[in-house]
Amino acid sequence: MRVELQHISKTFGRVRANQDISLTFEGGRIYAILGENGAGKSTLMKIMSGYQSADSGAILVNDQPVTLSAPTSAIAHGIGMLYQDPLDFPPFTVLENFIAGRPGGLFPDSENARRTLLTLAERFGFALDPDAYVDMLTIGERQQLEILRLLSLNVQMLVLDEPTTGISAEQKSALFSVLKSLARDEGMAIILVSHKLEDVIELCDHAFVLRRGRLVGEKTIPCPISDLVALMFGKVIERQERPAAVCGAPVLSVQDLRMVSHRLTVEHVSLEVCAAEVIGLAGLDGSGQAEFMRACTGLYPPEHGVIHLHGRDMTRTPYHAFKQAGVAFLPAGRMEEGLIKGMTLSQHFALTLPSRAPWVNWMRARRMTGERIQHFNVKGRPGSPIQTLSGGNQQRFALSLLPQRLRLLLLEHPTRGLDVESANYIWEQLLTRRADGTAIVFISAELDEIVAYSDRILVFFGGRVTLVEDPAEMSANRLGELIGGRL
Ligand SMILES: Nc1ncnc2c1ncn2[C@@H]1O[C@H](COP(=O)(O)OP(=O)(O)OP(=O)(O)O)[C@@H](O)[C@H]1O
Ligand SMILES: [Mg+2]
Repeated sequence: MRVELQHISKTFGRVRANQDISLTFEGGRIYAILGENGAGKSTLMKIMSGYQSADSGAILVNDQPVTLSAPTSAIAHGIGMLYQDPLDFPPFTVLENFIAGRPGGLFPDSENARRTLLTLAERFGFALDPDAYVDMLTIGERQQLEILRLLSLNVQMLVLDEPTTGISAEQKSALFSVLKSLARDEGMAIILVSHKLEDVIELCDHAFVLRRGRLVGEKTIPCPISDLVALMFGKVIERQERPAAVCGAPVLSVQDLRMVSHRLTVEHVSLEVCAAEVIGLAGLDGSGQAEFMRACTGLYPPEHGVIHLHGRDMTRTPYHAFKQAGVAFLPAGRMEEGLIKGMTLSQHFALTLPSRAPWVNWMRARRMTGERIQHFNVKGRPGSPIQTLSGGNQQRFALSLLPQRLRLLLLEHPTRGLDVESANYIWEQLLTRRADGTAIVFISAELDEIVAYSDRILVFFGGRVTLVEDPAEMSANRLGELIGGRL
């Protein structure tokens, strides 16, 4: 398999997302596409996978020029892509999604498909129930399903746009070993778009770096991480130190919570969170952290236990009561729960404005949008529909929508999909809120992020929680053992 991109350019209005990019990918190798948020990585990958067409340039597959007018035609040429936000159909089952897009005519052979699905899933170490509904799966599991679907369609090139966000360390190492064997043993070309440079060093042979739509460099791996960062940003970037916290009065108090989800019951969760404290929630995907966080916002009624905010009993009160009490929540599924497809940035702000008047204050919404997108360095305009922003810019925008004065801020994967510089920036903002007394509870799959920013860590495993009082004494590796149940 050999795919050559020649002089690819693509503009969206005034944005030059790709400018004259030429690259070659060979079978048997694993490539990384790197670059800051909005650099043009997803655009280039979508062009190569038939999701979008280039304004100019050519694509050659095994030296033959091809026209990739749709994802299905790219798949027919052996190129499959795992999209940054899952493209599956949540109301259908895993098996139905797996069958979608297969040539099967009027009567799809679902028994055969079930066998293929189970065989592939076993090979990857993915535990997918063919009859589960996709809307019950985690983002990580939905990505697994999509990877299996593409492999079953015999793609020879697999493009993965940020596949490791939201999957557990074990799923990730299973995925990486399979990707390595697909490249080494089966001669597939694998392309990884990622902001996690540790992953890139572990997995890839070669990196291409984009900046503002142009190819600005490439590097053979292994190489020091700092070389990649320097190519991406033109400078060296380090994580800032977390200032010591002086915790204030208790903000949130949770006693003996029991949460039942379709996969497990988590019991005896008690926690007190003080003003100006940061609590990191660690655990494998689906260990109850998400339910816990939703219980603390009124979005999920716990089976048992009580929740107090500033001493007030909030058990079984709805989300808007929590909002009025100064609580905000940023969910992980940014395009499903957080943002509204089709709406512009200003329209999102208009929704956050207090609505006492019978009309919408568009002037104010537009002004606020302008200010906030500048402040949060969002690449987009007030009139841009949200889905036209790059993944990292959507995330930054979602963060910019949060009310400014808060007592408790709950965040699911706050820096997911952000480049190193933006992730640092977001934490700078969060630590400023903390200095003003906001209590912060966050979930992250990045164990070093949890260790670096938490004052205390709540570890979820096997239906129970353990509190780590002093993260300074804890390494990310040790935390990895804890979330895997090794005490
Ligand atoms: N459909 C679209 N309409 C308008 N602008 C778009 C569209 N898709 C992408 N863009 C713009 O093109 C630029 C490149 O976006 P792209 O999604 O390729 O970035 P990226 O490198 O993948 O970033 P990230 O790391 O944040 O995912 C951005 O400025 C983005 O807003
Ligand atoms: Mg992207």
